[in-house]
Amino acid sequence: MKAPKIQMELKENIFARELFGEDFKWGVSTAAYQIEGGHDLHGKGPSVWDVFTAKSGTILNGHHGNTACDFYNTYLEDIAMMKELGIPNFRFSLSWPRIIPNGTGEVNQSGIEFYNKVIDACLANDIEPWVTVYHWDLPHELELRGGWADRDIISWFKEYVAVCAKAFGDRVKYWMVLNEPMVFTGAGYFMGVHAPGKKGLTNFLPAAHHAVLAMAEGGRVLRQLIPTAEIGTTFSCSYIEPYTTSRKDVVAARRADALMNRLFIEPILGLGYPEEDLPVVKKLKKYYQPGDTELMQFDFDFIGIQNYTREIVKHSIFVPYLNAVLVKAGNRRVPTTAMGWEVYPPAIYHMLKKYSDYAGMPKIYITENGAAFPDVAADGKVNDTERVHYLRSYLRQVLKAKSEGVNVQGYFVWTLLDNFEWAEGYHPRFGLVHVDFDTQRRIIKSSGYWYKAFLNG
Ligand code: BGC
Repeated sequence: MKAPKIQMELKENIFARELFGEDFKWGVSTAAYQIEGGHDLHGKGPSVWDVFTAKSGTILNGHHGNTACDFYNTYLEDIAMMKELGIPNFRFSLSWPRIIPNGTGEVNQSGIEFYNKVIDACLANDIEPWVTVYHWDLPHELELRGGWADRDIISWFKEYVAVCAKAFGDRVKYWMVLNEPMVFTGAGYFMGVHAPGKKGLTNFLPAAHHAVLAMAEGGRVLRQLIPTAEIGTTFSCSYIEPYTTSRKDVVAARRADALMNRLFIEPILGLGYPEEDLPVVKKLKKYYQPGDTELMQFDFDFIGIQNYTREIVKHSIFVPYLNAVLVKAGNRRVPTTAMGWEVYPPAIYHMLKKYSDYAGMPKIYITENGAAFPDVAADGKVNDTERVHYLRSYLRQVLKAKSEGVNVQGYFVWTLLDNFEWAEGYHPRFGLVHVDFDTQRRIIKSSGYWYKAFLNG
């Protein structure tokens, strides 16, 4: 009696997609360093991730992205597979050092050609390309000159954005300036667990301020050079709740929320940094120059929200400045993914509500949501029912927010292919498609077929 159940689920899926409306955008998201490989091919310069992963002890099992999913060579097949799955929108990022090997100066025409081919292949397959200009792979040469902690990054970045806009703006309508500034500045310049491996407030605070300015300036460059483009930028966010109702935990949760969910979007919206709830950002003033408050603002056409989980926060005297600590999901007896993140579908609903409450908030796309599970490939199949369940449950919450008036107009699964998951290497598998990293063989998982059925009926 399996067939009727599948039929029923299918019907429910078709019904659900229709409920989101005809214009709702559906897609998958990826990032250059996580899938491309070809790390030193055809004139590409090294990125901070090439250098960081080559150091011992930085990445689980010593993994690196030198080959990754080999998308640099397999993009035609991978785009054809997306077409087969009926995925109408493909979000991918451009590698800065593939386009400008030293970060500034000479442009690498082979890099431009590669992305031309990817964009053209998308369009030939009726897939809309959505481009992220920066998803963390800073040219190493620029890091040697101070990277995000140096104010010159703003002009280097504007130069790079202009090169991308001129090269691809005739065919790419949807642009995202930065991917998750909180993560690349926090993990890369405060905790040192991501490239370039820097630590401490004196690196983090200038990097954060320059990322905000570069985000707004990048938006302005795109708008000037491609007036018809839809321009956005993306933010990581986690729904935050205090561990107890004690005042200390509540205040700790508010501080964590200000850091993780508000620090980067509020200056863009013209609200400045959340100094009241996160006093340490007052130290940012040191990096201010006259006019910065205005420069930090930009009226994006959309905001990309990327949510995976909820965090429970409690007071701690051991964490300087923040006095807050996350209570790990593993210690809370809740369902978790292979990343150790809690599976908590209402998180995405709460984040949609929270962001849409801001005055002047433009439309929202969920530019990432997904989960890693310990998938097993057997007999050419991967039966990842947990992922199907995760995606459906989170989508129901997106629909709930939408039906309550939140202006959410799209949803992108993270991610198409199992890929290089930063500090965790290849261990966590997030894809709708399984990748054997020895042979580069792809197997569409049950979740991939589920998404196809959901999208295409
Ligand atoms: C990032 C992706 C990452 C995913 C899962 C997001 O923070 O944009 O690059 O792979 O989450 O960790």
